[in-house]
Amino acid sequence: MDLALVTGATSGIGAAVARELHRRGWSLVLTGRSAPALEAIGAELGARTVVADLATAEGRATVVAAADGVQLLVNNAALGGAFGPFATMPVDDLEAVLAVNVVAASTLVRAVLPGMLAAGRGGIVTVSSPSAVGPKAGAAAYGASKAFLESLDRSLRAETRGSGVVVTTVRPESTRTDFHARSGQDVSDVTAWNTPEDVARAALDAHERGELLVRVPRRPAKHVARDAARVVWHHPVVQHFRSR
Ligand SMILES: NC(=O)c1ccc[n+]([C@@H]2O[C@H](COP(=O)([O-])OP(=O)(O)OC[C@H]3O[C@@H](n4cnc5c(N)ncnc54)[C@H](OP(=O)(O)O)[C@@H]3O)[C@@H](O)[C@H]2O)c1
Repeated sequence: MDLALVTGATSGIGAAVARELHRRGWSLVLTGRSAPALEAIGAELGARTVVADLATAEGRATVVAAADGVQLLVNNAALGGAFGPFATMPVDDLEAVLAVNVVAASTLVRAVLPGMLAAGRGGIVTVSSPSAVGPKAGAAAYGASKAFLESLDRSLRAETRGSGVVVTTVRPESTRTDFHARSGQDVSDVTAWNTPEDVARAALDAHERGELLVRVPRRPAKHVARDAARVVWHHPVVQHFRSR
């Protein structure tokens, strides 16, 4: 059975991708920081789990070692989001965004690509964001990190053409996960949402078709706007921002 590694599989889009891959018959290596969440999804899907913080060199080395021999890498883990204007962004946060979103993701690609090229087959799926083609005021480092990944993917596609390795960049629009709360983003203007399951299916379908870039637009369904409003108003972070 083919083996896939999914980073950031403890919640949101990564967890949905892991479940969808399991449904499609893949064996899985799942990574994240939260040991209890990882243990739960690992038990659910019969997957190997690797607890590691991708912001640290040690964590990245642990995940790189676990990626040995995978046929599919899903680079999904990322740090958001709204750290405020770049001029006042804490340098520690800047370094963490670059470590997780740029260094970890690209180091993993560097680790798995030679084996895929030697085997004449393999897949890399990068979860990017519309922020990659910003500007995204208040989230400059996040947007720039996604631009790095999209640029890397474009070059990888040029370098791997005809090799049997497929590189797919996924650009999901607003998707209902913990991401915005964790990164302190105000999502009060979002009136339509994807589900993580929508994104996972669209990403893997596109990858299986060999597509290079898949945009996952928000679902325009009528009921979603009402649900989104509920999320916004009951959202502690948003309430915090609104009360300032
Ligand atoms: N939600 C959206 O609207 C949206 C839109 C466009 C793009 N995206 C992209 O979608 C991807 C997944 O985000 P999501 O929305 O599913 O958010 P999420 O639910 O917050 O998931 C983020 C995942 O990344 C992992 N992660 C974060 N920091 C990490 C670190 N230092 N080391 C290891 N793992 C780390 C988290 O693991 P732990 O919880 O275990 O720390 C979690 O599994 C990201 O690349 C994001 O940029 C999301």
